[in-house]
Amino acid sequence: MDIKDKVALVTGGGSGIGAATSLRLAKEGASVVVADVNEEGGRDTVTQIESNGGTAAFVRADVTDVKDAEAMIAFAKDTYGGLDILHNNAGILDGPDRYPDAHPAQWLPVLEVNLRGVILGTQYGIQAMKERGGGAIVNTASMAGLGFGYPANPVYAASKGGVVLFTASLAPLKESDNIRVNCICPGVVNTPMATAGVPGLAALNKEAAAFVESLKMIEPEEIADIVVQFITDDSLAGRAMMARNGRERELVPLPDAREWAGR
Ligand SMILES: NC(=O)c1ccc[n+]([C@@H]2O[C@H](COP(=O)([O-])OP(=O)(O)OC[C@H]3O[C@@H](n4cnc5c(N)ncnc54)[C@H](O)[C@@H]3O)[C@@H](O)[C@H]2O)c1
Repeated sequence: MDIKDKVALVTGGGSGIGAATSLRLAKEGASVVVADVNEEGGRDTVTQIESNGGTAAFVRADVTDVKDAEAMIAFAKDTYGGLDILHNNAGILDGPDRYPDAHPAQWLPVLEVNLRGVILGTQYGIQAMKERGGGAIVNTASMAGLGFGYPANPVYAASKGGVVLFTASLAPLKESDNIRVNCICPGVVNTPMATAGVPGLAALNKEAAAFVESLKMIEPEEIADIVVQFITDDSLAGRAMMARNGRERELVPLPDAREWAGR
């Protein structure tokens, strides 16, 4: 799919990976809806896009809220006439007291934002894309959601593993509705989430913190480039792209849900 003149919506567009993707999609010629609970960050992304000559608008949306998820997609339709591209990217990490010691009030939001938010956004996104005859959805998962696991935060790993399998299960939408759903699985990316998370990790496990600090950080613009690859390569559906620190990006060998349908 060409990005030029399309309408894109990016959740968590007010910071890190979402801000980088919003800027890149606008540079490629899309009109971009920046959705976030962080109004200051979201409006700043819009200002940056506009000062580069691009087109963007901010909508405040909490991706865990059914009404907000529906309203952010309606905002894209009202503002730019429809929706072609959706990057379900908003996500959170919780603090250093981790499961099973942390109170459920601490870790439940991780599942809510990272998994429920993606599922809700995708539902309303698909409905809008069907009206356009197709579209592309890219979900932000994580390497933590692959077989590597993430012992320091198993709830985060579960939320991201859920995103990977949710994405893979939607592969048949390519044939039925011309909608391709894929996900990205980054290692450690140079964003406020990772840089603020390191002290938390240090409190939990010094070896893990030292390992993270030794990594060559992935820049959020590299992740935005993978989002663009998923949108523009019409052959990719239900796939996960891993971006490991210091290595080339690679597609994760997942079973193709379409081959298993009906078995
Ligand atoms: N930074 C990393 O190392 C890394 C690695 C792998 C995956 N990820 C994933 O990448 C995505 C983006 O993270 P980032 O690193 O850019 O972090 P970030 O903290 O810089 O940005 C996350 C954005 O999501 C927004 N957000 C949080 N909860 C929200 C909600 N309920 N509704 C709407 N917006 C909400 C925040 O306000 C923020 O602007 C997340 O899903 C994260 O889990 C990050």
